[in-house]
Amino acid sequence: MAIVGGETLKILLTSAFWRMAIFWPMALVYSYILLFIGDTITYFAPLPVSPPSGGFSSDESLQKGKLPVCIVTGATSGLGAEASKVLAGKGFFVVLVGRSNGLLSETMQEIKRHNNEAKLKAFAVDISSIKSIIQFKSSLLEWLSESGMDPSIQLLINNAGILARTSRTTADGYDQMMETNYIGHFVLTNLLWPLLIKCNAPSRIVNVTSFTHRCVTKSPVLTAHNLRFCMSGFENYPFSHTYEFTKFWLLLFSYELHRKICLMNYYPKVSILAADPGAVETNIMREIPKPISKLAIAYLKQTRLLKTPQTGVSSIIDAAFAPPEISGKYFFGGKGRMIQSSALSYDSKLSKDLWDCSMVMFHESMARLKYSIDMDGAERLF
Ligand SMILES: NC(=O)c1ccc[n+]([C@@H]2O[C@H](COP(=O)([O-])OP(=O)(O)OC[C@H]3O[C@@H](n4cnc5c(N)ncnc54)[C@H](OP(=O)(O)O)[C@@H]3O)[C@@H](O)[C@H]2O)c1
Repeated sequence: MAIVGGETLKILLTSAFWRMAIFWPMALVYSYILLFIGDTITYFAPLPVSPPSGGFSSDESLQKGKLPVCIVTGATSGLGAEASKVLAGKGFFVVLVGRSNGLLSETMQEIKRHNNEAKLKAFAVDISSIKSIIQFKSSLLEWLSESGMDPSIQLLINNAGILARTSRTTADGYDQMMETNYIGHFVLTNLLWPLLIKCNAPSRIVNVTSFTHRCVTKSPVLTAHNLRFCMSGFENYPFSHTYEFTKFWLLLFSYELHRKICLMNYYPKVSILAADPGAVETNIMREIPKPISKLAIAYLKQTRLLKTPQTGVSSIIDAAFAPPEISGKYFFGGKGRMIQSSALSYDSKLSKDLWDCSMVMFHESMARLKYSIDMDGAERLF
């Protein structure tokens, strides 16, 4: 109890905590204001009830009895587990990606309990390790080939994320929160790109971002060096700021990839969307001392700003099922609704700079790990 008290006091004395306590609810309320005051585009009515068909799947594949494959990262808890359950129910062969084999099998059992017909496959992957992501790609290809499935995927949900309290450096030399929330998914998307464009049906990437991106009001000069070091080496780790940046960068990445997809004439064959679930009661605050996370949950519940994973997942599912022509948009609030993200997130120079330095890091990592990128005939994104 004394340790918990000490930890609680320690965090209460940080500016990172007060930033989170004051600015995050403001950013959330602002998103709801945009939703209700009318800066909203309602695109399509709630989630279709039938399995993927028509515009967003391949009749040819379905006739051959091949289910469309989707990948969900961070599938062992909260929104990822819920999204996997819904997508399996909608007729996808769901590939669950998580860190722990134990949690992966528990999640699969849980989904099967609700839906015995669910088609599931699990891979233990650490998204904060580029080596692990590379190994995942080869295991995935091996599994697809052994199962007689097409070497393609229709949907990639980049969902895994952490809110780290302390500064930790990964084996790749990045801040762990930055690598999990942004860099790992940048690398994963680039490596899986050939499988996405090979899909017979329109394919899609959904990046799970957050309303907290609105707290980023200016960006450091983006270079690969800055991206590697700008959040590390702090005695008092600016955890709230770092989290906001990772979600902001994921959003910039979504918009820049949309521009690239259009320039390379892949649109609307491939599309990318950002989804913001709002505030959801999951395990995301696991590193925050219990008294504080409980208080935050109670406050958000009282103000009716907190969702359950079952309702919070709706923006992710909306994004997954939106028609292929919808790309480069930001889903928030469920019911097929989209809103504008922050003004800074539409700065195309910033997203290009981020893309360029992320690519430098990507190539450095591939060279360091001696991995030759096999595009298998696909046009490179870089
Ligand atoms: N909850 C919210 O209020 C909220 C709001 C906006 C956005 N989001 C975003 O929603 C996404 C899902 O979060 P959540 O709220 O569902 O939190 P969660 O319950 O903590 O789930 C996070 C998932 O990510 C996985 N994960 C973490 N690090 C990983 C790594 N290195 N490699 C592979 N998997 C890893 C976790 O696996 P383990 O179980 O092994 O840890 C877990 O399955 C995150 O990107 C988060 O930023 C959440």
